Amino acid sequence: MALLLEGDASERMIARYLQKSQVYVYEESGAVVGVCVLQHKTDETCEVMNIAVLAEHRNQGIAKKLLLHAIDSARNRGCRSIEIATGNSGIGQLYLYQKIGFEMVSLELDYFVKNYEDPIIEEGIPCKHQVRLRMKL
Ligand SMILES: CC(C)(COP(=O)(O)OP(=O)(O)OC[C@H]1O[C@@H](n2cnc3c(N)ncnc32)[C@H](O)[C@@H]1OP(=O)(O)O)[C@@H](O)C(=O)NCCC(=O)NCCS
Repeated sequence: MALLLEGDASERMIARYLQKSQVYVYEESGAVVGVCVLQHKTDETCEVMNIAVLAEHRNQGIAKKLLLHAIDSARNRGCRSIEIATGNSGIGQLYLYQKIGFEMVSLELDYFVKNYEDPIIEEGIPCKHQVRLRMKL
């Protein structure tokens, strides 16, 4: 849960999607250092609900490996697309997701203001809007 909370500040939201999702973990020396949560949303679409890597293991390609695994899993389940959403302030995440091949498809204004109790600030940028990205499979 500590790792999942790095990818999503709301334990309430995590609890809601966790029970309907598959959880993939990345282990090093028997310890979980990365996590990726994938949910089958519709017949044709899967969504990555959460992805996080322990701070001391970042920038080693672990998130990329987890995302590529999630993409393969979605494809093997017969999905035609996979989605992922992040905040407007998630500059590094937007870089990573687009570099892998996700494309921005929509912006939900004030999503984080409406759904999260406490304000979220990343690198000095207020996180207010949700950016949704999609990759065709
Ligand atoms: C976002 C996160 C999962 C990335 O994990 P990671 O294992 O460090 O990512 P990777 O090493 O696989 O990065 C792959 C690429 O993205 C880039 N990247 C990743 N995070 C970045 C960041 N914050 N800023 C800039 N670039 C970043 C890497 O430089 C790398 O680029 P390259 O292929 O050109 O070398 C990790 O920073 C994290 O756990 N953050 C906190 C949780 C979070 O925000 N989750 C996402 C919620 S939407």
